[in-house]
Amino acid sequence: MIHTIIEPFRIKSVEPIRMSTRGERRRWLDEAKLNVFLLPAERVLLDFLTDSGTGAMSARQWGAIMEGDESYAGSKSFFHLEEVLRDLTGYEYIIPTHQGRAAERILFSVATKKGDLIPNNTHFDTTRANIEYQGAEAVDLVIPEGLQPRALHPFKGNIDLARVEELLKREGHRIPFGMMTLTNNSGGGQPVSLANLRAYRELLTRYGKPLILDVCRYAENSMFVKLREPGMQDRTVKSIAQEMFSLADGCMMSAKKDGMVNIGGFLALNDAAWVEAAKTLLILTEGFPTYGGLAGRDLEALAVGMQEGLDEDYLRYRLRTAEYMGEKLKAAGIAIVEPTGGHAVYLDAKDFLPHLGPEQYPAWSLANALYLEAGIRGVEIGSVMFGKRRDDGTETYHSMELVRLAFPRRMYTQSHFDYAAEAICDLKANADKVRGVRMVKQARYLRHFTAEFEWAAS
Ligand code: F0G
Repeated sequence: MIHTIIEPFRIKSVEPIRMSTRGERRRWLDEAKLNVFLLPAERVLLDFLTDSGTGAMSARQWGAIMEGDESYAGSKSFFHLEEVLRDLTGYEYIIPTHQGRAAERILFSVATKKGDLIPNNTHFDTTRANIEYQGAEAVDLVIPEGLQPRALHPFKGNIDLARVEELLKREGHRIPFGMMTLTNNSGGGQPVSLANLRAYRELLTRYGKPLILDVCRYAENSMFVKLREPGMQDRTVKSIAQEMFSLADGCMMSAKKDGMVNIGGFLALNDAAWVEAAKTLLILTEGFPTYGGLAGRDLEALAVGMQEGLDEDYLRYRLRTAEYMGEKLKAAGIAIVEPTGGHAVYLDAKDFLPHLGPEQYPAWSLANALYLEAGIRGVEIGSVMFGKRRDDGTETYHSMELVRLAFPRRMYTQSHFDYAAEAICDLKANADKVRGVRMVKQARYLRHFTAEFEWAAS
């Protein structure tokens, strides 16, 4: 019996990686104001900033690109995508958008108002920002285990039903609908069980509220259900996904994840009134409803990508990649979010850098150190992303300080992951030398993208 899981693809086209020295990276990081978002990508060796839109498309998708119908109205590629998405989701109306946050903005504009509350396991940063932009409030109600990096639970993305019910009782009149994010990206890429989703649906139904899913990584979530949820082992991932969609009234998707494309997203709904308002807004800001901000070729690549994202050989390899990295790091005593999620490994920066207090942004500092020492770019999910500077100049800090290393789909091979694991273990051995940072410039919304830093005095 051979245990090694191989990449279930061959490589047909390659892109060189420019090697760099620590000295060069030191200079480049200073030029980027100690913010890895501001680094030109050519200066990065392994780019684990995000799994969003960064993956490799298949030969079949590149073939589909040539088939793209660029008609302004009634594009054949739209009808192809619509057919694939209706079959998968069961929702009647498919509204393409250029990416996930456009779908968010449109849905929240038509279905929320000032003072509303939207519960979710954990809102992603753009989701939260788009809700707050409407004057509504994004409420995170993940189960307590979901906030403890090392609590073992097969479905740490589950929502805390008791707290949802309490909110519905107390503030029900302010809640237009409930949301659930599959997988729970901000909480470690952790899955939601079918049982939890079903119970959430029943609870919302009792209070007359619809359910909207954020399904960026629904295929990874469905594979976790197949592997971990009792009684699911013999089902296809697609049928599990279909059941998840059937429990909700609609979904938003950034197709740049499990849609296996470099750009794209959609909103899929059953409610005709929401759809009418959404289409009006779509035409105003994205494009005609049969392309919604995408080219015909993008729609075609997405129609193929949605099917490839459900391939079970691919998904087994995909989840194994994160697990493999996690095993190597844990063996070296490095604290990570456990169990590993679907698309990324999350380093626990509080544990990695115990000498840095929250005001030195430990996860941000760790992301900088990883770049400096090994050319690896990850992303902080901590107090820069989720904390806030109050009007009086004081800061609120996030409960977790994580560095996410997110893995682009079908792009890096095992030796890249071996290199990354070795580099992180090396850094751990010298962790006490990692310096903290001070934020010297920030924007009001989504400040992590553009904030500037200096080294903190050590
Ligand atoms: N929802 C979730 C759960 C996400 O992870 C993202 C994006 C979005 C919505 C927004 O989609 O980027 O297409 O507008 N996540 C990326 C990430 C950016 O790196 O995790 P978008």
